[in-house]
Amino acid sequence: MKCVLKMGGHILFSELNSAKIKRYAEVMEKIVNEGVKLVIVVGGGEKAREYIEVARTLNADNFRTDIIGIEVTKLNAMLFSLALGEKAYFPIPTNLDEILHLMQSNKKIIVLGGLMPGQSTVAVAALIAEAINSDLLIIATDVEGVYTADPKKDPQAKLLEEIHIDQLIEMMSKMEAKAGTYKLFDLTSLKIIKRSKIRTVVVNGRKPENIVKVIKGEKCGTLITF
Ligand code: UTP
Repeated sequence: MKCVLKMGGHILFSELNSAKIKRYAEVMEKIVNEGVKLVIVVGGGEKAREYIEVARTLNADNFRTDIIGIEVTKLNAMLFSLALGEKAYFPIPTNLDEILHLMQSNKKIIVLGGLMPGQSTVAVAALIAEAINSDLLIIATDVEGVYTADPKKDPQAKLLEEIHIDQLIEMMSKMEAKAGTYKLFDLTSLKIIKRSKIRTVVVNGRKPENIVKVIKGEKCGTLITF
């Protein structure tokens, strides 16, 4: 079984803690020991936001702030790769060709960060899932799944067990219009998930056992339907 996991930067890298990173790495090792081929795309989290904000005040444009964001995701990914030791590649791959090549040739876990400006790490994860024909794409975030509204801002927001891709695209388009709001997916990632009907589940990654549950096929978080 092939699985691509987007590990939200907020879960592990907002405040750096090696013991916590190690704990997550051990869960990943267990998953791989069960025979799963795993690609982990690591997000930027609070640190990326901080860097981007400072870059903006230094007059960086969108392209340049994205480059800064990508570098932070790569730093996070390198820490995660280190926590996996011999089980992962270090240095991390930084382009799709390299990733596809590693996927064919070896059994190690592939850990990476962002790839290019104009997208998020969720889009990177979706793109890789499409490229390797992954059985599953897991988006590990810091809430239980997809809600009817931003659960951090709207107490009425309800968790959805399932959501149709078109409904999700509509929801995210509205949110995208307002800067700095709830952004679980960017539209690039949704377009890729839709066109290749990638089995995608959004879970709360603050509990690493949720990731195991989804891989085992147990009900958890929100499933995207087509
Ligand atoms: P993330 O996708 O990690 O955003 O990329 P995030 O909102 O911080 O996600 P999580 O929830 O913590 O994981 C951080 C920034 O890096 C740039 C973007 O500017 C993004 O906002 N980036 C990332 C790219 O430009 N391209 C990529 O391929 C990845």
